[in-house]
Amino acid sequence: MVVIAVTGKGGTGKTVVSALLIHFLSRNHNLLAVDADPDSNLPEALGVKPRKTLGEIREVFQVSRDEMGTMNKEQWLEGKIYAEAITEADNFDLLVMGRPEGEGCYCFANSLLRGVLRKLMRHYDVIIIDTEAGLEHFSRGTISGADYIIVVTDMSKKGLSTAKRIKELSSELKLNFKQIFLVGNRIMNGMGEDIIKEFADEEGIELLDVLPYDEEIVKLDIKGEPIVLMDENSDYAERVKKIATRLVGDGNGKNEH
Ligand SMILES: Nc1ncnc2c1ncn2[C@@H]1O[C@H](COP(=O)(O)OP(=O)(O)OP(=O)(O)O)[C@@H](O)[C@H]1O
Ligand SMILES: [Mg+2]
Repeated sequence: MVVIAVTGKGGTGKTVVSALLIHFLSRNHNLLAVDADPDSNLPEALGVKPRKTLGEIREVFQVSRDEMGTMNKEQWLEGKIYAEAITEADNFDLLVMGRPEGEGCYCFANSLLRGVLRKLMRHYDVIIIDTEAGLEHFSRGTISGADYIIVVTDMSKKGLSTAKRIKELSSELKLNFKQIFLVGNRIMNGMGEDIIKEFADEEGIELLDVLPYDEEIVKLDIKGEPIVLMDENSDYAERVKKIATRLVGDGNGKNEH
């Protein structure tokens, strides 16, 4: 199992990159897509209509757990997630986290949920987590189980300083990840590309690619169409495919689950 978390400053293209990675990797792998952004838009990018969010399931659980009596609460939660929250798309499954964990008396539900999620994740070969902008997911533990962290940046100074903080936080928190990668995105006429390369060198972060500004992405955006409809032979799509292969390999046959 490989868990990949896609992080970075707001609006840098995390969801675009996540959606395309999901689209290409789901052809050869049993894949779970996780939308961990409370302002969820991964389902639209994938052209999938989501079912209930994990937050909604947790709320029902909070209300009804006293009435469950001797019923195994973990099994109940797991069953509920499969029955109501996992969306089965043609080639992959999707889980939308929804509302972030509230303060107060959610601890029981949350720790149970984490256990169930860990178990559930084992059914997949590849898990791609599209996170919310910034650093909030570090305190929520959303990416604590990630093997690879991808930081998406544009050419802005702000994008790179968020990348730097993500790198620092991931080592401060001693997350058990294997590697952190950088992806430049929405780069116009190569502007700022050298700065991104320099930054990657200085920080010792492997730069996967510096992806261009792409008009087709803008056109799909204007029409409100899923990003996965983009021409898969375009330069942009081909480069994302290469990133996918670099991270996970080609895959050797997909088992049904
Ligand atoms: N390479 C690109 N060329 C042109 N437009 C792009 C490119 N990448 C992303 N975009 C556009 O930029 C906007 C932001 O992209 P996206 O939603 O993927 O960013 P994000 O990092 O997920 O944002 P958020 O932080 O809000 O979740 C979208 O309108 C998207 O279509
Ligand atoms: Mg996003």
